Amino acid sequence: MSENPTLPEHHPNTDSTRSVLTALYNWNYEPEIDQLRTLYANALERQWIAMRDLDWQSDIDREAFTKTFSMGGIPISETRFWKSLSLDTRWNVARTSAAFMLSNFLHGEQGALMVAAQLVNAVPHMDGKFYAATQTLDEARHVEAFAAYINKLQEVHEISPGLKDLLDSVLGTEDWMKKAVGMQVVTEGLALYFFRDMRNQTEEPLLKKMLTYVSRDEARHTGYGIKYLAHVVPTLGERERQELEDFAFEATRMLMASRAGNTMRDRVMEVWAGAGVDPTEAMLELAKERDVIRDQLARTGGRYGPVSGFVIPTLRSVGLYGDRIAASFKDMWTVTQGAEAAERYANSDAEIPEDLEAWVNEGYESL
Ligand SMILES: [Fe+2]
Ligand SMILES: [Fe+2]
Repeated sequence: MSENPTLPEHHPNTDSTRSVLTALYNWNYEPEIDQLRTLYANALERQWIAMRDLDWQSDIDREAFTKTFSMGGIPISETRFWKSLSLDTRWNVARTSAAFMLSNFLHGEQGALMVAAQLVNAVPHMDGKFYAATQTLDEARHVEAFAAYINKLQEVHEISPGLKDLLDSVLGTEDWMKKAVGMQVVTEGLALYFFRDMRNQTEEPLLKKMLTYVSRDEARHTGYGIKYLAHVVPTLGERERQELEDFAFEATRMLMASRAGNTMRDRVMEVWAGAGVDPTEAMLELAKERDVIRDQLARTGGRYGPVSGFVIPTLRSVGLYGDRIAASFKDMWTVTQGAEAAERYANSDAEIPEDLEAWVNEGYESL
């Protein structure tokens, strides 16, 4: 019997989605889009080997793992209540809660692997095909690394429905630009943001190192989407451009649905109960320390969330954030966040870092 965690028994091991795409040859082998050729060269230079370059022999450092814990986006690790729990209880709560998130990262990486392989066929430029080939290898390595880490957590969960919908629609569309918008810009942009954030927060050495390596790759993947789309979007007609915008909005909506939703509270309760803590009592205790949590949130959160602080500025930079799509985002946030926040988020003036790789490396050059 394997020691690795498995999905629930009723869950099938395989699944499928229908995809049709036109494979494009290009008989011109000379560089056409220099920025993509450079990214390809960088990708070749920066390959790493998950099973060799990370230390899989050591166990997860449980104390460190539980030190920076947040539950459904609420940082509680500085509360007296959290600190009063035994290490075993803290570990079980943090482990189960992280397993939900990391499982979706793992499944998302598989989706990215398949989309990158599709891009080799679907993009029209040779530079784009070369680059997508390196990304295919990067994503295989990411699936391998996340799977290995999740094995150490001893718990894996099935993909969330919103993420599955998104992957199906990106794999299913025939239009390579929609694949690039849905995967490279929206999904990988959000992934890059979360991976980097989690890397900055966590004190668990293996997780920190793995996320640093993975984020460096993701910075290139997002960079590819930005550079490639910035090259082609100006050549599109208005109708084609709007279709891409709509695809970007839908992709973002699906990803947000995969994170939020009314199941979050149930899940949090489930996690506490599973670790042997009365969930109602835990909520009451935590409510008494609202100030501590609020302080912590203020320290970590900025004026914008990941979508308004990262995805929207990226879309804007490639010419895919016009008034029409801004209104769609605003409508969506008005329902979930209220009018004032919706206005601020939809009109975000955040800017994406000029050099994404340097942004990921800040303070972590030696890792
Ligand atoms: Fe990845
Ligand atoms: Fe990626």
